[in-house]
Parts: sequence; structure tokens; C-alpha cells
Amino acid sequence: MSDNLFRFHDLFAQLGLPNTPEAIASFLEKHRPLPNDILLADAPFWNKSQAEFIREKRLLDSPEWIQIIDQLSEALRQTTGVLNLSGPCRVLALSGSLRQRSFNTALAHAAQALAPQGMSIDVATLHGIPLYDGDIESKDGIPDAVLSLKEKILSADALLLVTPEYNNGVPGVFKNGIDWLSRTDMKTIFSGRITGLIGASMGGFGTISSQTAWLPTLKMLGVSLYSGSSLLVSRAQNSFDAEGKLQDETIQKMLSSYLQGFQTFVHASQMAKAQERKN
Ligand code: FNR
Repeated sequence: MSDNLFRFHDLFAQLGLPNTPEAIASFLEKHRPLPNDILLADAPFWNKSQAEFIREKRLLDSPEWIQIIDQLSEALRQTTGVLNLSGPCRVLALSGSLRQRSFNTALAHAAQALAPQGMSIDVATLHGIPLYDGDIESKDGIPDAVLSLKEKILSADALLLVTPEYNNGVPGVFKNGIDWLSRTDMKTIFSGRITGLIGASMGGFGTISSQTAWLPTLKMLGVSLYSGSSLLVSRAQNSFDAEGKLQDETIQKMLSSYLQGFQTFVHASQMAKAQERKN
């Protein structure tokens, strides 16, 4: 990750702005797009001293700040994404349904197709993971299917959980998979893991109950959950065609918008982590 990324984080601190990943992401979401005919220092959202700082550093061509100020300017003029300087954002979308024609697996594939520029999405399922049994674990260790899923999660920048809803709650199959994963090395695999949560159901409330039911578990696991927006696909049977393609244009737009916000969150979180490592 480039050194400029650290300094983008620093710039927010210098401007007296909150510089947590969430704060940087929400600042960008709130203030862009900044029209091309308005200089960054003249943007209406700065207070006097912030505007002066930017104007002064820009005029002086300050070697310490100029590049990062220009990158902030560029980021604010884009409608999506955080910064061109951000590396690729690899997401693992994990479907919580084993069903061949699962709406949630279809939703994961729709996300893959609609991923914004700079984001790539791989789709994984929980096939092959047995029911958790402490005796199996003691005797044979962690099953290969769990270890292989663990590797996929570790090699991605972020995890996107795509959850069905069963009886207003979390499906046992999905919870079982996460429970197995937590037995491998909970801290490495989940602690601080940048995570999104979306889902599709046939009912009218589109997994709102199961997404809510996931929260205590995700808190326990210590993931860094994206909560900037949500995606609840209700009456999924009307949104996908017979081949499992997402055909509902409104949901397509909502999914694109969710992914853009998620990408911003991933990049901002990476920035913060890089800064922590630097300190
Ligand atoms: C359901 N379904 C369901 N839907 C919903 O909106 N709220 C609910 O509480 C439930 N409860 C429920 C319980 C059980 C045991 C099953 C099998 C199903 C319907 C569910 O949304 C539908 O089966 C989806 O198709 C499941 O997701 P996949 O498999 O298509 O991804």
C-alpha cells in the first residue's frame, strides 16, 4: 500500500476531521461529487481554517501535502469509489444457502456481476461442511471444507455474508459454518475482518430479522461490520428469473449502491489499518 494512503488518513486529522474509516467514508459520500469548476479550497463544506490550510498548501506547492490534497480533490469529484490510488478490493461473498437455485447464492452472483470498478467478488458456499461436533473436532481436527473456506476468507480483503432467513432467524446451516470457522482461529479469521451483510428472502421483510439476529454473533466474532447502508431483498421469487439472474432493476441499483458504499468502507478501513501498522 502506498505511503500516500497513510497521509490521506493524516490529512483528515490535520483538517480537524474525524479520521476513522467510517468517518472518511461518510465524508466522501456526503460531499461528492464536487463540481469540476469549484476549486477544492472553495468547496462549501470547509470551515475557514480548513479552506485556508488547503489553499495555502496548494499555493505553496507544499511537498508534504500537495499530492494527498490533490488525491482528496480527485476522490471528491468521483461519484463512486474512494481513490484511484487504492489497490484492488477483493471480496469473498459467502452464501448461507446450500440450495442449488438459492436466491442468496444468486444474489452473491449478482453482486459479482455488479461489482464497481476496482472491486472483484468471488462467490463461496458452505457445501461440504459437516454439522459441528466437538468429538469430530477432537478426533479428526478441522474438516478440509472448513480449512479451504478459511483460506478463501483470509486471502480476500473483505467478507460479504449473504444470508437467508429461516423462522425470523439465522439459518442453522450458515451459523454452523461460521461456528466451524470460529474453531480454526477466531482472532485471525474474524477479528477486525471487514464484513458486509446482505440477504434475500421470499417474505415481505427481506431478511431484516435474520440480519438483526446475526448481530450478536458478529459482535462476538469482532468483525468490522459495514453499516453505512443495507440491502434486504424481499419477495426474492419476483426479483430473479428462472436462471437465477437478478432482473429487478430497482434491486440492481440498490445492490450497486450498497457495493459502492462497501468499497469505500473497505478502502477507508484499509487506510486506517495501514496507519495503525505505521504507528
Ligand atoms: C423460510 N423462509 C422464510 N422467509 C422469510 O422471509 N422469513 C422467514 O422467517 C422464513 N422462514 C423460513 C424457514 C424455513 C425453515 C425455510 C426453509 C424457509 C423462506 C425463505 O425465504 C426461502 O426458502 C428462501 O428461498 C431461502 O433462501 P435461498 O435458499 O433461496 O437462498
